[in-house]
Amino acid sequence: MGSLCAPLFSLRAVSHVFPNGNRALSNITLDIQEGERLFIAGSNGSGKTLLMRIACGLLEPSSGEVFFRGAPIDKARDLRSSAGMVFQDADSQIVGETVAEDIAFGPKNLRLPKDEVDKRVRSALSAMGLADKRDYPPRRLSGGEKRRLAVAGVLAMGCSAIIMDEPFANLDYQGVVQTLEIIKRMKTQGKTLVILTHELEKALAYADRLVVLDKGEIRDQGEADETLDRLVPSYGVRDPRKSYTRAADCTWLD
Ligand SMILES: Nc1ncnc2c1ncn2[C@@H]1O[C@H](COP(=O)(O)OP(=O)(O)O)[C@@H](O)[C@H]1O
Ligand SMILES: [Mg+2]
Repeated sequence: MGSLCAPLFSLRAVSHVFPNGNRALSNITLDIQEGERLFIAGSNGSGKTLLMRIACGLLEPSSGEVFFRGAPIDKARDLRSSAGMVFQDADSQIVGETVAEDIAFGPKNLRLPKDEVDKRVRSALSAMGLADKRDYPPRRLSGGEKRRLAVAGVLAMGCSAIIMDEPFANLDYQGVVQTLEIIKRMKTQGKTLVILTHELEKALAYADRLVVLDKGEIRDQGEADETLDRLVPSYGVRDPRKSYTRAADCTWLD
């Protein structure tokens, strides 16, 4: 049964074992609240992408239960229009021949009237700073613009929750800044934001809560500073609070 105070996503004792025997998630219990900004950190292969694919109903876990707004995920009818995932590889998400067509794809699939689709496309184009690129072929956009396009698609669906998988991967400085501006804006709009990243130094300022995932298990979670204080090297997550004041200090080797 759905209820107003149910968490947006709720995972209960979720485990996933691949057919090749790889146990990729073990006994994950996690609630993500409406409006929360949650960062999930962990080294490559720790299970971040898999965890959120399962939370979004894109993959069924081997065991455990998944709820969306209190409803079992397979019965959560508002899921697709409420939560959107921006994948690490922005190219894999491109479906339209032009930027505007690409953004229109989701709202069209929701069978919204044409006027409403057009309105949403215009609004998403402008929100993501892509208005002047509306007739552009998406594949020719820069990495940062492609990621903004993927976010625009999620916004045009009317999603109140956005999951960004490695949002800083393969972006240059300008692209990182543009992505951070999106993250900052989501905060002021009260959207639920889940960020999967190991690049905490770029964005942790915007986190309400930090979850540390390692080898498919949640090792720790809580307020960011406290969680970072408890990090141990074996988690494979680097404390981003080490700051550099001189070029000569700029190395990740301790
Ligand atoms: N199809 C698959 N078959 C077997 N193992 C897989 C498959 N897909 C992913 N995995 C494994 O699941 C684990 C978690 O992967 P993933 O969620 O992509 O990690 P992350 O996003 O943290 O880098 C990894 O060990 C990965 O190798
Ligand atoms: Mg991943």
